[in-house]
Amino acid sequence: MLIFATETSCDETSVCLMEDNKIIEHIIFSQEIHKKFGGVVPELASRSHLEKLQEITKEILNNPKIDPKKIDVFASTCGPGLIGSLLIGSTFTKSLAISYKKPFLAINHLEGHVLSTSYNNKIKYPHLVLLLTGGHTQIYLMENDKEITLLGESVDDALGEAFDKTAKLIGLNYPGGPEIEKLSKEGDENAFDLPKPLINERNFNFSFSGIKTHINLLTKKNMVDDIFKKNLSASFQKTIAEIIITKLKKNIGLLIEKKINIQSISVVGGVANNDYIKKKLEILFDQIKIELYYPVKEMMSDNAAMIAWACLKKYKYKENDIFFKPDPRLKIKDMNISK
Ligand code: KG4
Ligand code: ZN
Repeated sequence: MLIFATETSCDETSVCLMEDNKIIEHIIFSQEIHKKFGGVVPELASRSHLEKLQEITKEILNNPKIDPKKIDVFASTCGPGLIGSLLIGSTFTKSLAISYKKPFLAINHLEGHVLSTSYNNKIKYPHLVLLLTGGHTQIYLMENDKEITLLGESVDDALGEAFDKTAKLIGLNYPGGPEIEKLSKEGDENAFDLPKPLINERNFNFSFSGIKTHINLLTKKNMVDDIFKKNLSASFQKTIAEIIITKLKKNIGLLIEKKINIQSISVVGGVANNDYIKKKLEILFDQIKIELYYPVKEMMSDNAAMIAWACLKKYKYKENDIFFKPDPRLKIKDMNISK
């Protein structure tokens, strides 16, 4: 099975050619243009996708070793994400599918992230997925490989968004996650005592916007110099790790009460790149003997390989989504195979 997939839901333009479970070609172009605005500008993202998607597709399909006529199925992200960007990726990919007379599959971006760890791991069920991206912070339960159930999510900012907004408040570049992680290495993680919203609640939800408000106040009361930036970054990262660890421990306990004994957990999405959080999670799951999976590096941040992989997993259940309309708020349950 040869799959051609595109990803354009936010500020990465990406194309992948996957044969069975092997990545043949994969290009990820991260749009730099948003850096000077401190966040993604939707109109600029759309324009950049339009330009880059054609360029990188040509680069892949012009490879003399690849015969585009042999592609079995075309797939693209159809939500959630920026509507203009989704329309460009899906219309472009549908056009290729029509011209080569092959089926088109609509893939949910979040499902791409959720399924990404099954590319390099044999998943043990029941399985928990912690999805940490710039737009979503969610916990999913998978009792088998078909059904993905949302247990809880952030009631306000997503975790990546909290990293990005905190970075902006202290004058760091976009995306803020990697910047905060870098500065944290030289900071005192106990310098600031930050709030940990919802940490004691018996549910699967998160909240991060209160931390940002607290940090905003700190930037008004303190001099935002290098030491402040380093100490605040380290304290923020430590607080986030504590929230995640405490919540996960509680959530696993809540599931045990419901007779669901989690065997493994995946941490996916851009924030899963954070080595400090990773290390804390490794210690926890080593102690409680639950297997911890991460995607391969190139499937961590937004990428088309995870879209191709999700397409491969779904293709046997679906035939053609050529009339599927991209949806900026698409949910995984709208696309569950078992529906
Ligand atoms: O999954 P992703 O690439 O795109 C979305 O689907 O949103 O996630 C992007 C988010 C950004 O908010 C970025 O700041 C965050 O992931 N991120 C990180 C790190 N690398 C990327 N957050 C914390 N630490 C990192 N090292
Ligand atoms: Zn993503």
